[in-house]
Amino acid sequence: MDILNKVKQYREEENRLKWEGTFTEYLELLKERPEIAQTAHSRVYNMIKAAGIEKKDGRNDYRFFNEEIFGLEEAIERLVEEYFHPAAKRLDVRKRILLLMGPVSGGKSTIVTMLKRGLERYSRTDEGAVYAIKGCPMHEDPLHLIPQHLREDFYKEYGIRIEGSLSPLNTMRLEKEYGGKIEDVLIERIFFNEDRRVGIGTFSPSDPKSQDIADLTGSIDFSTIAEYGSESDPRAYRFDGELNKANRGMMEFQEMLKCDEKFLWHLLSLTQEGNFKAGRFALISADELIVAHTNEAEYRSFISNKKNEALHSRIIVMPIPYNLKVSQEERIYEKMIKESDMSHVHIAPHALRVAAIFSILTRLKPSKKQGIDPVKKMRLYDGESVEGFNQVDVDELKAEFPDEGMSGIDPRYVINRISSSIIRKETPSINALDVLRSIKDGLDQHPSISEEDKEKYLNYIAIARREFDEIAKKEVQKAFVYSYEESAKTLLENYLDNVEAFCNQNKLKDPLTGEEMNPDEKLMRSIEEQIGISENAKKAFREEILIRISAFARKGKRFDYYSHDRLREAIQKKLFADLKDVVKITTSSQTPDESQLKKINEVIARLIDDYGYNSTSANELLRYVGSLLNR
Ligand SMILES: Nc1ncnc2c1ncn2[C@@H]1O[C@H](COP(=O)(O)OP(=O)(O)OP(=O)(O)O)[C@@H](O)[C@H]1O
Ligand SMILES: [Mg+2]
Repeated sequence: MDILNKVKQYREEENRLKWEGTFTEYLELLKERPEIAQTAHSRVYNMIKAAGIEKKDGRNDYRFFNEEIFGLEEAIERLVEEYFHPAAKRLDVRKRILLLMGPVSGGKSTIVTMLKRGLERYSRTDEGAVYAIKGCPMHEDPLHLIPQHLREDFYKEYGIRIEGSLSPLNTMRLEKEYGGKIEDVLIERIFFNEDRRVGIGTFSPSDPKSQDIADLTGSIDFSTIAEYGSESDPRAYRFDGELNKANRGMMEFQEMLKCDEKFLWHLLSLTQEGNFKAGRFALISADELIVAHTNEAEYRSFISNKKNEALHSRIIVMPIPYNLKVSQEERIYEKMIKESDMSHVHIAPHALRVAAIFSILTRLKPSKKQGIDPVKKMRLYDGESVEGFNQVDVDELKAEFPDEGMSGIDPRYVINRISSSIIRKETPSINALDVLRSIKDGLDQHPSISEEDKEKYLNYIAIARREFDEIAKKEVQKAFVYSYEESAKTLLENYLDNVEAFCNQNKLKDPLTGEEMNPDEKLMRSIEEQIGISENAKKAFREEILIRISAFARKGKRFDYYSHDRLREAIQKKLFADLKDVVKITTSSQTPDESQLKKINEVIARLIDDYGYNSTSANELLRYVGSLLNR
C-alpha cells in the first residue's frame, strides 16, 4: 500500500500547488516573486545552481549532475559556465542551439535527460514555478499580454524585460473571450511534464520524405476549417508540434545534424529571433532551450559543408568527452549494471576495476613527457600519487591533448561484454578474468576498431591483466593474515623504534627482559630492501623518516601506516614476502593436508565475509593466485 499512498500524496501535492487567477492577480504575485517570470534559460541555470556548487581543487563542481554523471566535472563546468550561466543572463549564447558533441555512449543523452527530469521537478518548487495563459496549447508567457507600447513603462515598474509578442491564438482569444481586457485573462501555474507534453519536448527525425514539419510546428486541423471558415483562423490550427509544446522549457533535438535542412531553418529563426513561423500566421514567439547531440565525425562532416555555414554560426558546441578516471569508470559500470537485468549476478571484487583500467587506457593518448607511461598517466589522472610527479605534472599532461577522451572504448561495450560473459558462464558469478576474456573476444566483432587499434587494445588487456595479478596476490595474502592491518601496524612500530634508536645512536629495551639491545639491523634491512634501498642509501632514508615523524608531531599528528607511501609499500611487501611460501604451498597443493585445508577454509571465509567475494569467486581467486605464485 505504500506505493498507493505515495501516489495519493503526489496527487494532493499537485492540488496544493495549483494556482489560478486573473492577470491582475498574477501581477501582484509577480511583484512579490519576480523570479516566476524568468526566461527558460535562466530557469535551467537556477535549477542547476539550486542543487549546490562545491569548490573542489579550485574548480566548481555542480552537484546537479553528480548522481548520474561521473568523472566529467571539467566538461560539466564548462557547459554550465560557458553556456547556461551566460544564457541565463540573457547574453547572446542564449540565441544559439546547444550542441553536445562527444563519442558514443559518453553520457550526452544522460545529461539531456537529467535536465529534462530536473526541470519537471523544479517546476514544482517555489523557485522554479512557471505560470502561463490558461488554456493556451503553448503555455504562453502571461507577460506577452502587455502591449508593446507599454513595455517600457512595465520595465520601469517591475524591472522585467518582456520579449516576444502575443501569439495569434491568444490575440484572438483576448478579443473574443475577454473583450480585450487583459486584466481579466486567466493565468494558471503549469508543471513541466514530458509525458503530458508540457514544457518539455523531444524531436526525433524519421524518414525525411515522410516526415512533416508539423511535428515541429503543429498543423492545420482540417476538421475544424468548416467551423472557423478559414485556414488562417488560429483556432483551426493545432499548436502541438514539439517546438510549441516545449515553449517555456526545453526541447531535445535528436540526430539534429542528420535532419533535413527545412527543419533546421525553423530552429534558426527560433533561436536567433525568438520566434518561428507556423501555418499562415504571424511569427510565433517562443522561449525555450534547444539541446542537440552529435558525435565528432558527424559534426566534422557537417561543418565541412559550406552550405551549413549559417547554421554553424548559430550553434554552440560543447564537448562531452569520455570519463578518464578509473575509479569513476567503475562507478559508471556499477550504475549501468544496477539499471540492467544483471543486478542479481555476483560480480567479484576488482572485476569492474580491471575493465575500467582497460577502457581508460584505450582513451588516453601517449604522453611525450619524460618518465610517463600509460599506467602512470592513468594513475595520476585518477588522483593517485605516483612517485616523482605532482599536480603540476597532471595539469601539464592534460594540457598536452586538449581533445583527449574523444575516442576509445565506450562504457556500453564493456557492459555488453560483461553480460555476454554472464550468459556464457553457468554460475551467476563473474570475475575479473571472465570480463577481460570477454572484452578480448568481443574486439573482433566491434564494428569500429581498426587492426591497428586492435593491436593496441590487446596490449592494454595485457596491462589490465598484470594490474589484476598484483591486486589478486595482495588480496589473497592479506586474507591469509588473521588481522592484516594489525600485523602491518605492529611491524611498522617495530621498524620505527629501531630507526629511531639507529639515528640517535641509542639502545633499545627488550620489552620482556628489559635488557638493552642494539637496533635490529637485519629487520630494518629486510624491510628497506623491499623497495630497493641500497646499503649506502639506508642512512638517508631512515633520517628522512625521522624528520617526517617530527614534522608530524609538530602539527600534533601521529605518524602512522598511512603517512608515508613508500614505507607502507615496503611494509606490505615484507609481510607478503614472509607469507609467500605459505600462500604458495597452501593454495597450490593438489592434496592439501588437514592443516592446509583448515587454512584454506579460513581464508575463503575471510574473503567472503570481509572482502565481498562469494564462494565461487573466492575459490577461483585462490586457484588463480596459486598458479601465479608457482610460475
Ligand atoms: N560519464 C558518465 N557518467 C555516468 N554514466 C555514463 C557516463 N558516460 C556514459 N555513461 C552511461 O553510459 C550509457 C550511455 O550513455 P548515453 O546514452 O548518455 O550516451 P550518449 O553520449 O548519448 O551516446 P550516443 O552517442 O550513443 O547516443 C548510459 O547508461 C550512461 O549512464
Ligand atoms: Mg544518446
